[in-house]
Amino acid sequence: MKITKICCIGAGYVGGPTMAIIAKKNPNIKVTIVDINAERIAAWNNEDVSQLPIYEPGLAEIVEETRGKNLFFTTEIDEAIKESEMIFISVNTPTKTYGIGKGMAADLKYVELCARNIAEVATTDKIIVEKSTLPVRTAQAIKSILHNTGSDVKFEILSNPEFLAEGTAIQDLLNPDRVLIGGESEDAIESLANVYGSWVPQERILRTNVWSSELSKLTANAFLAQRISSINAISELCEHTEANVNEVAKAIGMDSRIGSKFLNASIGFGGSCFQKDILNLVYIARSYGLTAVADYWEQVIILNDHQKRRFSNNLISTLYNTVSGKKIAMLGWAFKKDTNDTRESAAIYVADHLLNEQANIAVYDPKVTSKKVQADLNYLNTRSEEENNDLVKSYEDPYETSKDAHAIAIMTEWDEFKTYDWTKIFNQMKKPAFIFDGRNILDKEEMEAIGFEYSSIGK
Ligand code: NAD
Ligand code: UGA
Repeated sequence: MKITKICCIGAGYVGGPTMAIIAKKNPNIKVTIVDINAERIAAWNNEDVSQLPIYEPGLAEIVEETRGKNLFFTTEIDEAIKESEMIFISVNTPTKTYGIGKGMAADLKYVELCARNIAEVATTDKIIVEKSTLPVRTAQAIKSILHNTGSDVKFEILSNPEFLAEGTAIQDLLNPDRVLIGGESEDAIESLANVYGSWVPQERILRTNVWSSELSKLTANAFLAQRISSINAISELCEHTEANVNEVAKAIGMDSRIGSKFLNASIGFGGSCFQKDILNLVYIARSYGLTAVADYWEQVIILNDHQKRRFSNNLISTLYNTVSGKKIAMLGWAFKKDTNDTRESAAIYVADHLLNEQANIAVYDPKVTSKKVQADLNYLNTRSEEENNDLVKSYEDPYETSKDAHAIAIMTEWDEFKTYDWTKIFNQMKKPAFIFDGRNILDKEEMEAIGFEYSSIGK
């Protein structure tokens, strides 16, 4: 099928950047991104591209270049579905918070709503592309909904999971390790391969069956997260043996069979996907009765929770076993640098734990608003909104944040943290002045020479 118009349902962290690149690289295809969230669409249409709803290095420039030419953002979902030959489903698939599979399975209600919406309004044949991360065999459910409309419209379903990481999304999209397309119909697969073919070499476009494609996405995230939990497990052992986790990571990473990436010990991984996708994998394995498989992968999450808790416990015990009434300055709230996304950020859980111990928290993050910090804590429902508001303050300036603080906790690896005047920060803090470097980004000797009591992960 020749593709002249594409619709993407879901204007989020995946839909926005992915479609911006498709539009940029295919000037002859009209790309329309739709969403039920009118506020989000309005932000995507903001004249001032520094106000886009998503912060990603390089994204604003591409949106400015393509928006209004062949890239459009709208809430007119039905129209965009009707006119397009290819429809990407890129909506959220969070962990279920109710009913069967609560806390484990992926909640597919948004995906199902999209399928029903398409079934209802489509009058011409369409290729439906699963871009959201979905449990293996979801295409079957989408197919069943689309094929029972009673009309003559034909639908082909492809799985095309996304592998971009936030903070590097544009580079990941421009130069992907691979693009994965799972499907049955060769014609549909080649139609999508041609869209990517505008900039991705054909040998990097992998064609598989639908189920391998769906399962590969969950597996890739599980393997990546497993590496972080593995190095974090070793970090705890390092702290008891005077080994240095950075040295261990370097030594093992030079083995070409292991490789050096994703071996940074940390406060624990965050982000909207690793935990959700592993929980989903565990749920699927359990539903097939594969207890050993499920237990194996669940351990990645257990270790990650342990690492977050270990960080806050260490902070509390070092501060003479109490943080009550003490000001703890948190540098960073996003789940990693170069994004404004805070979903499942370790900072939220560490802050919550410290608040239970009656700490006062001061937060500075270059891209996260005070409103978001409050919303993240309120979502946990641990205490009232008023209490969170009283105990947690956000600042626009890192020096104000750390003034009179008993300790600084580095939660995100923002580059700018390395360039601060740490002597100035030290002079403004209560003494002894502690730093808990959850990202191992500062130099221990330099910090100790200034006078800080410095501790990091795995050293
Ligand atoms: P997101 O929450 O940022 O965006 C999803 C959007 O879909 C929201 O704006 C929501 O309003 C919209 N939506 C939900 N239901 C809708 C409907 N019925 N009609 C129209 N719009 C609807 O989510 P995201 O981070 O972009 O993730 C989307 C999917 O991609 C998830 O399955 C996720 O696992 C996967 N994924 C995410 C990343 C990432 O880095 N965030 C990377 C790879 C894959
Ligand atoms: C991850 C994957 O890397 C993407 O390939 C995938 O598409 C995406 O999930 C998804 O499916 O959503 P993302 O979560 O955006 O991307 O970011 P990562 O770079 O993977 O970082 C995830 C978390 O792990 C962050 O909190 C990060 O700080 C942490 N991390 C990462 C470590 O603690 N150590 C490392 O060595 C690497």
